[in-house]
Amino acid sequence: MSVRIGTDVEVAAQKLRAGELVAIPTETVYGLAANAFDERACLRIFEVKRRPAFDPLIVHVRGRAQVDELCAEVPRIADELMRAFWPGPLTLVLPKCAIVPDLVTSGLDTVGVRHPAHPLAQRLLEALEFPLAAPSANLFGQVSPTTAQHVVDQLGAEVPYVLDGGPCAVGVESTIVGWEDGRCVLYRPGGIPQEALEEIAGRIDPAQRRVLPVAPGMLESHYAPRTPLVLGDVDALLAAQRGKRLAVLAFERPREAHALRVLSPRGELAEAARALFAALRALDASGAELIVAECLPERGLGRAINDRLRRAAAARREREGSSGPIA
Ligand code: TXA
Ligand code: MG
Repeated sequence: MSVRIGTDVEVAAQKLRAGELVAIPTETVYGLAANAFDERACLRIFEVKRRPAFDPLIVHVRGRAQVDELCAEVPRIADELMRAFWPGPLTLVLPKCAIVPDLVTSGLDTVGVRHPAHPLAQRLLEALEFPLAAPSANLFGQVSPTTAQHVVDQLGAEVPYVLDGGPCAVGVESTIVGWEDGRCVLYRPGGIPQEALEEIAGRIDPAQRRVLPVAPGMLESHYAPRTPLVLGDVDALLAAQRGKRLAVLAFERPREAHALRVLSPRGELAEAARALFAALRALDASGAELIVAECLPERGLGRAINDRLRRAAAARREREGSSGPIA
């Protein structure tokens, strides 16, 4: 089967109606989409991504009204958040209706819903009779794709059609929130800054309850390049690792190294988020022995970027069984 990259929403819609997978652009990262009501098609997502069945998929909707078909209960604050941030990079985990297959939610009684802001994704969702289950279109645990070519590079011939919407405007995945005892909690920092959500929802703490049937930590190693990555004070790391072929992932300021990516010379967090995953891929392909990355300011999109970098560093520590430097 050869991969086709194109911009034809009707071709994408036909394939999805026929139970096939289509990679779709969103404002955050590309997703690997299937009809959320078609269990066989959704099973194929897990196979192609080599994703364990315990990790649920989020469901993309064409708007607020479709949420009522999928979710049994919508807290008032959830409605306010949807009104404020949809379409956009915010996923809400809400009690699910029976119509959502257990396979999609990995047996949980909740479903993550999101209305993406990308115009092609929106046209596709409006053309379809069903919502789209779509995780990021990468192999499980690896770096998410922010261009159509990234999808092809990693999933190749396993995806019949890639709907090309250009480079993703946000560049990190959606922020995921849920509810514990009636309080809004954070599952994953992402494209909508926590501070912005808190203006509507009040204080949002990290989720406490374990929702997945795995040891906490297990999903810590994620977003990982193949080259080991350490996170910390780049200048100190460069000095300590002298003699090695090092790649540097810097926020604003360039350094001398075998390979270098500066995420935002102007020091802007949104620009840095947009550049993050492509930079990690480029450094991974540079032939360096080690990627040294620096933490960004822990505010706004900086939180999502730091979260992804910490997980990439955790993957290295897991592989090597060591506890390397981490800031
Ligand atoms: O921006 C995004 O969210 C992208 C684009 C394609 O929309 N999607 C994405 O999907 O990042 P994925 O599967 O790579 O990450 C979604 C995360 C997973 O870690 C999953 O465990 C969590 O959402 N999740 C999904 N449903 C959940 C649920 N019911 N309860 C708790 N966590 C859930
Ligand atoms: Mg993912």
